[in-house]
Amino acid sequence: MVERKRPSIAGKLKETEGAPSVDDAAAIPDAVIDGVSIDVPVSAETSLLVSATTDPEAMYSRRHTGVSSTPEPSSMLTDDRLLDVKEKQEAPIGWYQRAIYELTFHTVNLGDSRRARARKVLISRITTPFNGDTRYVPILTRKGGVGKTTTTTLLGMALAQHREDRVIAIDANPDRGTLAERIPRETKNTIRTVVQKAPSIGSFTDFTEFISRDVTRLHVLASDPDPTLADAFDEYDYNVVADVASRYYSLILTDCGTGIVHSVMKPILSRANSLVIVSGGSIDEARLASETLSWLESNGYADVVRNSVVALNTATQGTMLVKLDEIENHFRSRVREVVRIPYDSHIAAGSVITWSKLNKITRDAAEMLAAFVAEGMPPTE
Ligand SMILES: Nc1ncnc2c1ncn2[C@@H]1O[C@H](COP(=O)(O)OP(=O)(O)OP(=O)(O)O)[C@@H](O)[C@H]1O
Ligand SMILES: [Mg+2]
Repeated sequence: MVERKRPSIAGKLKETEGAPSVDDAAAIPDAVIDGVSIDVPVSAETSLLVSATTDPEAMYSRRHTGVSSTPEPSSMLTDDRLLDVKEKQEAPIGWYQRAIYELTFHTVNLGDSRRARARKVLISRITTPFNGDTRYVPILTRKGGVGKTTTTTLLGMALAQHREDRVIAIDANPDRGTLAERIPRETKNTIRTVVQKAPSIGSFTDFTEFISRDVTRLHVLASDPDPTLADAFDEYDYNVVADVASRYYSLILTDCGTGIVHSVMKPILSRANSLVIVSGGSIDEARLASETLSWLESNGYADVVRNSVVALNTATQGTMLVKLDEIENHFRSRVREVVRIPYDSHIAAGSVITWSKLNKITRDAAEMLAAFVAEGMPPTE
């Protein structure tokens, strides 16, 4: 074996401007060809070869000159050499940033605009991963007509379109729920038929026969339109539906009725990892939402109340007459976050909600609500 000459390589490197240190040089391994270790001869060529890694121009030309006449050390396999520079760089988001990027032939990248960066942060909050078991989020309040179903739909759409896992909204309103009317209806099946056919549901494909799907990828399970049957939907039934759904979904939103002591509320609340309480913008609506929190606190759900989010729907009658800031301050003292849902004429029509037809401020509010819900999800035991 020829005596190794690494110290002299280091000596040559030292002479090269910006060259690696002696320690770096020591890290250069012997070349291996067909499993035979050979020593790298020290020559002017070798020195050029190593120093070429610090010279982008030389790197560029090496890419096109084919095979080196001497064995290369593995340190020559750098990212710069092997990755296509064009593919590595992402075009910035924002018209000004994009214009500079294009005008300079992709040499100047100012990065995303502030708005684009904020949006990426928001989406990363909405997509906060939930490890482990299915999470349950009921949407409730003791007052009727304040926007529980609307909030469930908006929240579900905002979550479903950004998250990769599956999100379902279940209508558990015992008093003629309207959730399924908020997305295009694909089936006449309801929570009642899921209970009846639960033993035969063995796969996600089986389960999809019972649900309707929106373009945002939100899945909806309808309640029974017959008020007698809907009212009879009880604790046992909800547990059956939730157990089946939990096999296929990582997040289950439940649109509730106003009757907080109805038997179906017991399993809904005992499974809840977080809550969304809906308040309207009038005095009685805010009082009833606040009383809902008090009832939950005094009935064993104080922890989940502290972690809950209030959706303050400013579309209800009376909103213009009261100090919304004071309502918001009240709820801020009791729950984790408050989000205002604005009036939207597309929602007011009371029919199918199409995400793209909502006003931008409505979509922003829904996404903010989704971010608060997702990022505050407590770990499961
Ligand atoms: N932000 C909004 N902008 C416009 N209209 C709205 C908004 N929120 C709710 N509405 C309208 O108010 C009505 C009641 O809303 P929604 O059905 O969501 O209330 P709810 O609390 O679920 O009612 P219920 O107690 O009967 O289940 C609906 O016609 C809905 O379209
Ligand atoms: Mg409703």
